[in-house]
Formats: sequence, C-alpha cells, structure tokens
Amino acid sequence: MEDLRAKYIDLIAGASDEATLEDLRVAALGKKGEVSLQMRELGKMSPEDRQVMGPKLNALKDEIGSAIAAKKAALENAALDARLAAEWLDVTLPSRPTRTGTIHPVSQVMDEITAIFADMGFSVAEGPQIETDWYNFDALNIPGHHPARAEMDTFYMARAEGDNRPPHVLRTHTSPVQIRHLEAHGAPCRIIAPDRVYRADYDQTHTPMFHQVEGLAIDKDISMANLKWVLEEFCRTFFEIDEIELRFRASHFPFTEPSAEVDIRCSWEGGTLKLGEGDSWMEILGSGMVHPNVLRNAGVDPEVWQGFAFGIGIDRLAMLKYGIPDLRAFFDSDLRWLRHFGFGAGQVPTRYAG
Ligand code: DAH
Repeated sequence: MEDLRAKYIDLIAGASDEATLEDLRVAALGKKGEVSLQMRELGKMSPEDRQVMGPKLNALKDEIGSAIAAKKAALENAALDARLAAEWLDVTLPSRPTRTGTIHPVSQVMDEITAIFADMGFSVAEGPQIETDWYNFDALNIPGHHPARAEMDTFYMARAEGDNRPPHVLRTHTSPVQIRHLEAHGAPCRIIAPDRVYRADYDQTHTPMFHQVEGLAIDKDISMANLKWVLEEFCRTFFEIDEIELRFRASHFPFTEPSAEVDIRCSWEGGTLKLGEGDSWMEILGSGMVHPNVLRNAGVDPEVWQGFAFGIGIDRLAMLKYGIPDLRAFFDSDLRWLRHFGFGAGQVPTRYAG
C-alpha cells in the first residue's frame, strides 16, 4: 500500500495536463484500477485483517482522489493565469480615431430655414426636379416668347426623334412648387419649398446645380406688409443679428405684381463682410404679391385669394452666414473642405435650438 501511495502521489504531482490526471484516476481508482483491485481483495481477508486494511485502503482512495482534485484545480489556475497574461488589454491606450461625417452647410442651412419658417406656421412642400415647361414657365406667367425664359440658362431634356412636344426641363427655380401645391391643396396655404434647382452657369458664384427656398402664403387678407415682416423676421433669426436691415427695391418678375428684390445692409470694410452695418447693399432674394394669372393657372380664384411669394438662394445664405467664399467648393466633395465647413449632428444655432 505504501508503494501504491508513493507511486500515485508522485505521478499526480508530475502530471502536466488534465488528460494525464484522468488516466491516473482510471489507473488507480477506476473499476480495474490498482486501488480498486486491492479493495476487492478485502472480501478474501479474515475479519481482523479486513478491519485493519479496510480503513487504510479507504484512506488511500480518498488521498489519491483529493490529490487528483487538488492538482486539477492547480492546473486550471495555471491555465487561467497563462491566459490572463497573454490576453491583457491596455485600457489606457487612446481609442482609434473614428471618422465622423459632417452635415453639409447646405443641409444645415436648409434645416435652419425650415425651423425658422416652421415657427411662423409654414410647412414644407416639394415638387419634381424634372419639370414640364408648363409648371416651370407658362403656369408662372412666363409665356414662350418671354425674355425670362432665355435669361434662365435652362437645361432641356432630350425628346425622342420626331417627338415634337416641348421638352421637359431641369427646373430653373423652385417656383413651380407654388403651382403644384396650390393645385393639390388649394388656398389658404403657407408653405416653403427648399430644394435643388438647375441652370447652365458656372463661376465663383454660380454652379449648374444650386438651392433655393420658395415661400408662398395665400389667404384672404395677406398684404405686402406681411411679406415684409416675415422676411425681416426670418433674416434677423437666421443671421442672428438684431440690427439687420432690409431694403425692398421695386423689381419685376412675371409671377408677381408688384415685385420687389430685397437687399441686406452690409459693409465690406477691411475686406470682410459684416451684415447689419455699413453703406453697401447685397441682394438676397426676390419676392412680391402673387400675380392673379398664377393663382388662376393653379385653380385658385384671384377675386377671393391673394398673397405673397418669395425665392431665396440657399447657397448664398450659407456663404453669407458661415463666411464661405467660393460657391463651387460646395459641390466638390473635398473631404478637407467638408470637415472644415461641415457641422456636427448636434450643432444648432442658439437662437432656435429646441
Ligand atoms: N423664381 C425666382 C428666381 O429663380 C425667384 C423668385 C422671385 C421667386 C420672386 C418668387 C418671387 O417666389 O416672388 O429667380
């Protein structure tokens, strides 16, 4: 027994993995294990011998069993220590830079415009970017011979050969949304339509695709005074300048009568543009009282309804507010430009945050 004990305790101490331990357990304590065989011998012994050998064998069985369990636990601990040592993680390392996109100044300004006009009760309307010449021109009181058509640098879509219908156009302004909205919903109405428009033009202040926001308010008692207040309120809030000053300059658009172009007071002193002061004026929008023909073309009775409309260049507003000098860069998709002039998701001008 003493030999058995010494042999197994030694082997268990030297075991280097769980499989070896299991082999040792079977060899000692398994059905045909050496200790088990000894226990079977007990039956053949005299009662006196059995009384001596029985407890000893049991003790040996327990000792080997616990030695195996202890060694197993030690091996598991060692394995865990080895894993912990190998799989460490330095939580003090700076995180890898993740690339965050930015909100394009045009998107930002469209959101700002929408928020300001929403506060004044205007909802957002939409129309297609490929328009018929009816919606883009005729319905807006711009007949075929009208010089405004030629001035617009219109992109015409192609017609199939032999198809002599007038071609569709890429809309040259957001004004056709006026007609589409009135046709669909009638009067009264108070909408803005911010979106893309197209003209064949390209220099520092013109790109073939750009953005406008159309405004339209029709009711029974809307006057030019309402137009003036709405536009002044908009500019004050948008530019975040209380002293903003607008100048309404008589002008002409086929779809309004009377018509006014609106300039904003500014200074160019020292080469930097400042709004709300100085002796210069910069044109920012066109506007007027909606022409009766336009209402009629949209199925609205001009004897009952009247109102104002305006069209503002969104990109121009973005350039003014955020000091962006070249319009063309807006649409170059240059990542350095986008990171510099772009906005974070939570960046909302303080005046109308929330
Ligand atoms: N549609 C005009 C343009 O693109 C802008 C404009 C002027 C819109 C006067 C209007 C308006 O609604 O009343 O140049």
